[in-house]
Amino acid sequence: MRHFGPVTYRLGREADIAACLGVWRAAVDDYQGRLGMPPLPEETGPIRRHLTHMLATDPDRFWVGEISREGREGSGPAEPWLVGFAVATVRDGLWYLAMLFVLPAAQGHGIGAALLDRAQAGRDTPPGGPAVPGPDNALDTEIHTWGMATDTAQPISNAIYARRGMLPRLPIWRLAGEPFRWSAVPDLASGLEAIPFDSIAANGRDGPRQLAEAVGEIDRKVLGLTHPSDHEFLRRDGRAGFLVRERGGRVLGYAYGSSSGRLGPVAALDPDLLPSLLGVGIRQTPILGTVGTWVPASAEPAIRALLAAGLRFDRFPGILCWSRPDLPFARYLPINLAMV
Ligand SMILES: CC(C)(COP(=O)(O)OP(=O)(O)OC[C@H]1O[C@@H](n2cnc3c(N)ncnc32)[C@H](O)[C@@H]1OP(=O)(O)O)[C@@H](O)C(=O)NCCC(=O)NCCS
Repeated sequence: MRHFGPVTYRLGREADIAACLGVWRAAVDDYQGRLGMPPLPEETGPIRRHLTHMLATDPDRFWVGEISREGREGSGPAEPWLVGFAVATVRDGLWYLAMLFVLPAAQGHGIGAALLDRAQAGRDTPPGGPAVPGPDNALDTEIHTWGMATDTAQPISNAIYARRGMLPRLPIWRLAGEPFRWSAVPDLASGLEAIPFDSIAANGRDGPRQLAEAVGEIDRKVLGLTHPSDHEFLRRDGRAGFLVRERGGRVLGYAYGSSSGRLGPVAALDPDLLPSLLGVGIRQTPILGTVGTWVPASAEPAIRALLAAGLRFDRFPGILCWSRPDLPFARYLPINLAMV
């Protein structure tokens, strides 16, 4: 596509998700292929469910860009062509970009920036220039922190975010493999216990509230925010959560595992508890294959423990870009790169 007409921007809908995933696949395979990396796996179920969840919680931050049939060169389908999309969430004052992708043939024409404007503003930008909130221009929003995770191999996206005050600050590594040195992710000390979220939630009428309060308290202390809708999504999506506390006493953290091998999120009041929280996530879930999780470089005990257990660094690291210098990731492993 060398020439194309004006791009129309509108809010995304559930029916757009398949086309968005097509853009994502084309954009990632294009630059990763040039770096000699393999294409993305065929399976898109988990990412589709994530997008559906984010569309439900933040419908005004899911934007697509499309070009009409008249605006394109040559022949092609009559319906508008979706060439890019942006998805962001806001949780308790944290704006977080989940995905921003533009078809390779349409890149470098300002479409990515225009989508980002709208995902930041949460509305269409007015004629005569965008009024976009951000780290340097709070406008009237409640947002106090702006962030996302990018790919170290992607100077373009890192540059777009850094220019808007979200600077690349912290590596985040995917660690994957089969643990074989179990002592590195040890059992909980004898004074501690791990309680499945499901058994707390099933504890009478008050169960769900007690669970939400306990998890929310940890999130507030560790991350500085709560995100109950994401915890609900994780449980619906088949991840199993465990609350770790002093026997009958103070809650110290939580960990999620899943039969697909995805570990996390993991949160610990004391970072030295991260190795045994990871041990809880691995041991308490019947895992069908290898284990994988994203670990910010500042969560040092978790990186050391997983490497010692036998997991390996997988591919290039991501980078957490953040509007503030104080990132809350020394005691926290996020859900994945798209969701804190
Ligand atoms: C990243 C992406 C979404 C950007 O969309 P786009 O439509 O190509 O971007 P735009 O044309 O709006 O803006 C690109 C900007 O980056 C700038 N840029 C490009 N390379 C750069 C570099 N190495 N250093 C600094 N700036 C750079 C361009 O100059 C341009 O800014 P300008 O318009 O002010 O001149 C798109 O390129 C893409 O999908 N890439 C592949 C997938 C990806 O990496 N997605 C993000 C995952 S975190």
